Amino acid sequence: MSKKLFIETLGCAMNTRDSEHMIAQLKEREGYETTTNLKEADLILINTCSVREKPVQKLFSELGAFNKKKKEGAKIGVCGCTASHLGEEIIKRAPYVSFVLGARNVSKISEVLHKDKAVETDINYDESEFAFDDFRSSPYKAYINISIGCDKQCTFCIVPKTRGEEISIPDELIVQEAAKAVQNGAKEIFLLGQNVNNYGRRFSDATHEKVNFTELLRRLSKIEGLRRIRFTSPHPFHMDDEFIKEFAKNPKICKSMHMPLQSGSSKVLKDMKRGYTKEWFLNRVEKLRKECPEVSISTDIIVAFPGESEEDFEHTLDVMRKVKFDQIFSFKYSPRPHTEAEKLPMIDDALASARLTQLQSLQAEILDENAKKHQDKVYEVYFEELSRDNYVSGRTNTNLVVKVKGSEELLGEFRDVKITQIGRTICTGEIVA
Ligand code: SAH
Ligand code: F3S
Repeated sequence: MSKKLFIETLGCAMNTRDSEHMIAQLKEREGYETTTNLKEADLILINTCSVREKPVQKLFSELGAFNKKKKEGAKIGVCGCTASHLGEEIIKRAPYVSFVLGARNVSKISEVLHKDKAVETDINYDESEFAFDDFRSSPYKAYINISIGCDKQCTFCIVPKTRGEEISIPDELIVQEAAKAVQNGAKEIFLLGQNVNNYGRRFSDATHEKVNFTELLRRLSKIEGLRRIRFTSPHPFHMDDEFIKEFAKNPKICKSMHMPLQSGSSKVLKDMKRGYTKEWFLNRVEKLRKECPEVSISTDIIVAFPGESEEDFEHTLDVMRKVKFDQIFSFKYSPRPHTEAEKLPMIDDALASARLTQLQSLQAEILDENAKKHQDKVYEVYFEELSRDNYVSGRTNTNLVVKVKGSEELLGEFRDVKITQIGRTICTGEIVA
């Protein structure tokens, strides 16, 4: 009988892909099958996120609960970014944890599994050319890493300390992986990296041909049978004209762009070391909309970064009113260890919460306004997921989530859908062709 693996994945899409890599290794080399029932698991993995403080606090209470529920003899492993930055402290605080595996050491999963109390958290470890076994949680959409780590030093961000320096995965390996996923039925690929449009900055092999992100997109779009390319996250600083033009004119690139703003105030952006100003950001949005009028734009915003004045915050709201983002991920600033901003005096928490609420209610108004344009429009939808009550959901090219009545036969298919009911995050429609 095969051994059972229960895996919980927190955080970003990179963690989702790291989990797929670990599942693949454990299936192929160690004979594990996944289970959603914690009580029958022989191995419990938590793939953690450390970008904000809350999930880190939650980790230890969750570990305690898992330890109580687990079956006799089951192992618990902590992986991901919190594993990278807390390392052996995790085993000190939770001695029943069997091993700790950092976000840049995913390929060592078999190794740590057989060593009690192993801690592998080397952030200089280079996995950029490691040939992982093949496992995908969705046959329709393939996540593909294009780089590991991040070379930026945004003063609020812990990621460079948990995922290490940026190394690009050789383009020929990415093209190979994408072609294989397409052969196996995926019509969409989703490229992943902390800073995707900085691709090609550094390869493990210093003599590797200098291929930039725009060129990588061109090479990938030649794959026959591949219909859609998405990516996250690009950095506004690296959005040059060549990249925007390729984005606009390449029919395989989905017309949805994530542009993490973080703040609308040039002063705060400078304190965050983001490398661009409010004016540059607005200029890039204008250029993007000029080249590609149908584009949808999403963003990340942090409120109450240390030193953010009322006027600074107003600049953020001003950018929101001007851009009218289609989606916003907004966060209260959370001080993180090993970052430059860690020691700066915090803004009063009640004020921070009030700003977050104000920002989110402005965004709700913007979304209600934006959604109106979708009523009765017909869009091509790629169906990926079964939802409740006999609905199937998918996305338009511009990343709008749409559900229609239907069943499995629609999965992995493209259909033209007329939007009959609009919503802030999901629309309902009817298939017309
Ligand atoms: N590479 C990505 C960022 C990854 S972290 C980029 O350039 O955007 C994902 C998001 O978490 C960030 O965009 C930011 O909005 C948020 N975030 C990161 N550190 C944070 C912190 N210390 N406090 C609050 N939010 C944070
Ligand atoms: Fe973090 Fe900035 Fe890199 S937000 S992941 S340091 S681009």
